[in-house]
Amino acid sequence: METNNRILVIDDDLGVQSSYREILQPEMNAALFDQGRELFGCSGGGQISPDLNYELTLADNGESGIDAVKMSIRDNLPFAVAFIDLKMPGINGLATAKRIWQLDARINIAIVTALNCITPENTVKLLERQDILFLNKPFTRDEIRYLAQFMTYHYNLEQREAFWRVHLEQKVEKRALELKQSQQNASERLRRAMEGVIKAMTLMLESKNPYTAGHQHRVSVLATAMATEMQLKPDRVEGVRIAGLLHDIGKISVPSEILSWPGKLSKAEMQIIKQHPELGYDILKTIDFSFPVAEIEYQHHERLDGSGYPRGLKEAEILPEARILAVADVVEAMVSRRPYRAALGLDMALAEIDNGRGVRFDADVVDACVRLFKEKGFQW
Ligand SMILES: [Fe+2]
Repeated sequence: METNNRILVIDDDLGVQSSYREILQPEMNAALFDQGRELFGCSGGGQISPDLNYELTLADNGESGIDAVKMSIRDNLPFAVAFIDLKMPGINGLATAKRIWQLDARINIAIVTALNCITPENTVKLLERQDILFLNKPFTRDEIRYLAQFMTYHYNLEQREAFWRVHLEQKVEKRALELKQSQQNASERLRRAMEGVIKAMTLMLESKNPYTAGHQHRVSVLATAMATEMQLKPDRVEGVRIAGLLHDIGKISVPSEILSWPGKLSKAEMQIIKQHPELGYDILKTIDFSFPVAEIEYQHHERLDGSGYPRGLKEAEILPEARILAVADVVEAMVSRRPYRAALGLDMALAEIDNGRGVRFDADVVDACVRLFKEKGFQW
């Protein structure tokens, strides 16, 4: 980043302007130095301090000074410092300072005056800033050199800080964006992996019992639509969807002959089938789904009046998601063909859940299901 040593002097006194030039303009000092060396053949006069390498612009009055600032902005060569005489023909030094700061608030300004008529309070009020310096006339060479060095140093420090602050902010912002993107990618990969595992588990069960092929998928679709219809929060709807896809996974432990038996099952065989919610729970309980998928699966054959299995849970003991799944499971099972019976049809399925409305099945869940089929044209 380039160091800015550009100084603007606004003073109507040509003698004062010459003093500034003599103190601050390096070319003149360098020329004198070279002249001295040539004349006396030695390095007398000392080194030209790099700190005095100022680029000086002189203006006779406030308006010319303001024009110089405008041009400096246009040319992208801003001033670091301005020495402004207080009493000048036309607009005075304070009004000039105010207009200059309106154009470029970064410039450090020193007001130079032989008058004692300005008070800090008035100045602060007029300029709405406190960081203004005052220098009494007649000034000394050291005062000008000291102030020029101090104010240019301060200006460059501020600009560097601002530059690095922006640079750092941009870097932090970029890194945060990259991090967010990589987190999104990772969670998307995890989500896809989870979907793949669920699909694989579903296929495993369906390969064992082709008669229920698609049952879990169709239950999941209906249960998800019901949960949405009941305005459950999106994460709970997602829990219902996944629990639906896996709700009969426990049947993987039930012998195929029982699952595909075309006739009536014995009491003992029914007992084996009724173990599937618990077996499914054991399979799912260690998977961290971030919603209670295992518990929903465990409860999907429970009924509000306690007539369900395996634990005979009642009313509030049954999760809302499991109540939804229970109704979706019954409806899908009844509209589909089974090895031991033909499809019973939608009307009979809806009549069955209506019959159990408020007794075995949650009334709101039944209503949502009926609404979906009868009013909202739900179709698998
Ligand atoms: Fe089941």
